[in-house]
Amino acid sequence: MLFGKRVVVTSSTRGIGRGVAEAFLRAGAKVFIGSRDPTAVKDAITSLRKIAPSVWGSQLDLTSPDSVEFFIEQVTSKLGYVDILILNSGNPSNEPANFSETTMDDWTSSVNLFLLSPIRLIRGFVGGMKERHWGRIIFLSSYTVKEPKDFFSLADVSRAPLIQLTKILSRELGEFGITVNTILMGTFLTPGAKKSIELLARRRGKAFEEVWNEEVLKPIPIKRIGDPVRDLGSLLIFLCQDEGSYITGGYILSDGGVTQAV
Ligand SMILES: NC(=O)c1ccc[n+]([C@@H]2O[C@H](COP(=O)([O-])OP(=O)(O)OC[C@H]3O[C@@H](n4cnc5c(N)ncnc54)[C@H](OP(=O)(O)O)[C@@H]3O)[C@@H](O)[C@H]2O)c1
Repeated sequence: MLFGKRVVVTSSTRGIGRGVAEAFLRAGAKVFIGSRDPTAVKDAITSLRKIAPSVWGSQLDLTSPDSVEFFIEQVTSKLGYVDILILNSGNPSNEPANFSETTMDDWTSSVNLFLLSPIRLIRGFVGGMKERHWGRIIFLSSYTVKEPKDFFSLADVSRAPLIQLTKILSRELGEFGITVNTILMGTFLTPGAKKSIELLARRRGKAFEEVWNEEVLKPIPIKRIGDPVRDLGSLLIFLCQDEGSYITGGYILSDGGVTQAV
């Protein structure tokens, strides 16, 4: 499938990123992971090595330019080069928050997290992809950039421009055998998704189950939420195989049908 391909998955010690790292490992790739908590990185590597030994990682804080530079150095010294860059993120610390509840520090941090750090990582690895005439760059984003939620103001505004960047990069990089795509994700079962709804329920003075039902389950036509390994991992692996090489410059919804806009 993807034997020997060198894959970086950011924000990958739990939740969506962890599931995606697992899917790539199962497909035979070499995988490098990262997140803020070094102990979580170590624990995730230990648990992923039960699937396959070809996984490494290092500390990474996407809100910090210095940390991203350190991460690029760590990846380069371990893998040498990168074939596949899966750009996942965490969540802003002050979320959920309507615009009036945010500070300028929140915005700086959020733009680093969702927009500038992915750009830094692409700049770090795209030269090698061009040299080898093969590459995949995939942004993991949210359907809420198309249908913004007031309480996700930081995330939705900060990562919306990745759709423009996807198109621009696909034009510039296509001749080098590099495809660029964005996945607009619906709800996936992760600690982060549960925490967001818990915080929202607290704000609204409602029970978790009630808000989970009204915000998450009820609006999804297929009446289930996504599994990061099965529903998302398999899509990403398809895009990274040669069979996926005609798909570039756009976004794909992986959302159980929740997005209303055509
Ligand atoms: N789950 C969903 O339903 C859903 C739907 C649409 C979009 N998304 C988006 O997908 C992303 C992942 O969500 P999730 O639900 O998987 O979250 P999660 O369960 O909270 O996992 C987040 C992961 O990112 C890491 N992380 C957090 N902040 C980071 C930072 N500043 N730098 C580097 N790594 C960081 C965390 O580890 P540390 O805490 O150790 O850093 C953890 O490994 C988020 O951007 C979220 O908005 C999620």
